[in-house]
Amino acid sequence: MSPWPRRTRDAVVAIADQVHVQGALGYADWSRMEDETHVKMADLIGAGSSDEIAFVRNTSDALSMVARGLSWTPGQNVVFLREEFPSNRYPWESLAEFGVASRIVDLDLADPEAPLIAALDDNTRLLAVSAVQYASGIRMDLPRLAEACRERDVLFCVDAIQQVGALPFDVNASGADFVAFGAHKWLLGPEGVGVLWMRPEWRERLRLHAFGWHMAEHPGDFDAPAWRPTASARRFEPGTTNLLGIAALNASLGLLEDVGMNAVEALLRQRVRHLATGLAALPGISLITPDAPARQAGIVTFRAGRVDTGALHKHLVARKVVCVPRAGGIRFSPHFYTAPEVLDRALNAVEDALRA
Ligand SMILES: Cc1ncc(COP(=O)(O)O)c(C=O)c1O
Repeated sequence: MSPWPRRTRDAVVAIADQVHVQGALGYADWSRMEDETHVKMADLIGAGSSDEIAFVRNTSDALSMVARGLSWTPGQNVVFLREEFPSNRYPWESLAEFGVASRIVDLDLADPEAPLIAALDDNTRLLAVSAVQYASGIRMDLPRLAEACRERDVLFCVDAIQQVGALPFDVNASGADFVAFGAHKWLLGPEGVGVLWMRPEWRERLRLHAFGWHMAEHPGDFDAPAWRPTASARRFEPGTTNLLGIAALNASLGLLEDVGMNAVEALLRQRVRHLATGLAALPGISLITPDAPARQAGIVTFRAGRVDTGALHKHLVARKVVCVPRAGGIRFSPHFYTAPEVLDRALNAVEDALRA
């Protein structure tokens, strides 16, 4: 979870102050702000228009909407990695009640896409993968997976939460049919806002499971005897939106836009290199995250040889290093703004733990 930029904090405080004093007087402005946030998000991920962006609650929500919105027949299967975060496993595993099998394969760090491609068979309906694996930090070759899916008529669903905001991400270049992610990691945004994008032809084919005034073609027409879901991705936003969350996200997207995703990537890559080089120079440390830049995003996970991971984590947290135990090692997640001196403090803390 990233710290909020000052402008993000200010945006939330401004709305809180406004509602405190004026109630809903600013409603029209908030609606415009929410529309603008859809546009900013569409621009960030290369969507054709803001009509392609649905703000949902989180990644789990978005992936569940895909899993439950498709129609399944018994005997079909979904392919994914054992190492996926639960939000990208449970929605697919929940389909067992429809006779849909989960074909779960192990990550091969040497050739990460190969086991997934090898697992696709005549009954595979969908391949689900995270663009960047949350534990090992390995970045997947999405176009390679997309091509394998296309050749076999398999749907391709990407959990992009560990990439969007860290590196440029283009939904069309990814080759995905569906893309899901949340705002609270690399996007510097709040918890409780997620994004669901899908190739436009899927919008009206995905079965809906949540219904309310906001998704209607004419959302203000409360007395209309008949209604239908609008054609845009707003059809996946059934009711009152997360105003504070979207305001926060709007401000965070503004910061990323001002810096520019190419600059964010360049700065982040320097930081990842700084950490990876510093860690590799310490005795007994081995990197779990691959060394090749094409396989990296913002995560650096490492194992500390003879030092117990739990003990190392405790030591680092006591030194105020924000990190988590993952993939049998420790995960560092710097961002473009993390100062090199801060990285050095984290490296020194690891070095101290090795000596202790
Ligand atoms: C790959 C991946 N997907 C999803 C999530 C979070 O899911 P949600 O946005 O539903 O909380 C995480 C959080 O750690 C993650 O690493």
